[in-house]
Amino acid sequence: MVSLISFYGNRGLKLVRGERQYVWDSQGRQYLDAHTGHGVAFLGHRPPEIVQALKEQLNHIMVATPSFSSDPMERCLSYLNKILPYNLTEVYFQNSGTEAVELALKLSFKATGRRNVVAFMRSFHGRTLGSLSITWNPRYREGYPLLDVKFGRFNDLRSADLIDEKTAAVVAEPVQGEGGIRPSTSEFLREIRKACDEHGAALILDEVQSGFGRTGIAWAHQSRGVEPDIMTAGKSIGGGFPVSFVAARNWVIEGLKGAEHGSTHGGNPLACAALYGGIKTFLEKDIPSRAARQGEKLIKGLKDVKSKLVREIRGEGLMIGVELRIDVGPILKDLQNRGILALRAGGTVLRFLPPYMITDEDINTLLEETEGVLRNE
Ligand SMILES: Cc1ncc(COP(=O)(O)O)c(C=O)c1O
Repeated sequence: MVSLISFYGNRGLKLVRGERQYVWDSQGRQYLDAHTGHGVAFLGHRPPEIVQALKEQLNHIMVATPSFSSDPMERCLSYLNKILPYNLTEVYFQNSGTEAVELALKLSFKATGRRNVVAFMRSFHGRTLGSLSITWNPRYREGYPLLDVKFGRFNDLRSADLIDEKTAAVVAEPVQGEGGIRPSTSEFLREIRKACDEHGAALILDEVQSGFGRTGIAWAHQSRGVEPDIMTAGKSIGGGFPVSFVAARNWVIEGLKGAEHGSTHGGNPLACAALYGGIKTFLEKDIPSRAARQGEKLIKGLKDVKSKLVREIRGEGLMIGVELRIDVGPILKDLQNRGILALRAGGTVLRFLPPYMITDEDINTLLEETEGVLRNE
């Protein structure tokens, strides 16, 4: 009998249905989903525009690589034009966050002719060898041959001193996700932007988790007054269909001669359909504003929770972490038993990544259950 390698712990639930902000298990029990498949279902489960775009596309063509023109690709690019920072004009599609980060690194190496990379403590950028090299957690890195990377302290202006004329790229998450929900300060991002400009290095901002409206603005870095040379996006952009992309400034791709990169599935018609369906939802429903409003209520409510177990509440929009004084494992389990799915960000941070349509009533339920669990421990 074939069995799944268990890289993730098993939550002991079989999920059979997902609709908007809720999922149901095989026993028919409903859960409020603040896990959203590691932040993917930010547009809710089965967002209607994406389901419709996928169904229509299935009736036409499922396979067309970027060597051929296709309607979904053209539509996707024109929709991206509406939401990308104006100077990120060069786009390539991939299938996952880690692949987008790999391509971002490769572009920076080609554009600068250099090899050195600076990343930050508590970063998470993925699990393939390039992105793992810039992921900080020693537990994920151990035993693999990785690139030589310097890790600076996150939000410490002195980290800019690590950037020099040998640096190809500096990579940061505008809000660190897996590392414990840690928002960057504007001063920090500006300082590393300045050092990148001084030394000709590319600034890569990884918006795989923080992007697409989750933090209350289209891309989290935009509230810091900083512009990246390369940006990565993934997770929520396809509403559950595996799709990611890299968006870059023109100078980064000037030296490319072709055949330096590729992807069999990258930008396939179904992925493009999912992505333009997602962007349509994003625009029509003003997703960032809704995430900002509901996030503010949730963060405020969590700050009012009275528990000795809580060390700090951090977050922006609907990307929220509750730093605890204890291991978060039992808390997640208790919450699940009470009908709330959440996830961890490291050992002690309880992470909430709910969908944008979470209602005031859902927020009250989530707060009541969280308070109940933290009181009981
Ligand atoms: C900031 C960031 N970058 C990259 C990744 C990797 O994405 P994927 O798991 O789709 O490869 C993640 C995943 O959690 C992430 O949070």
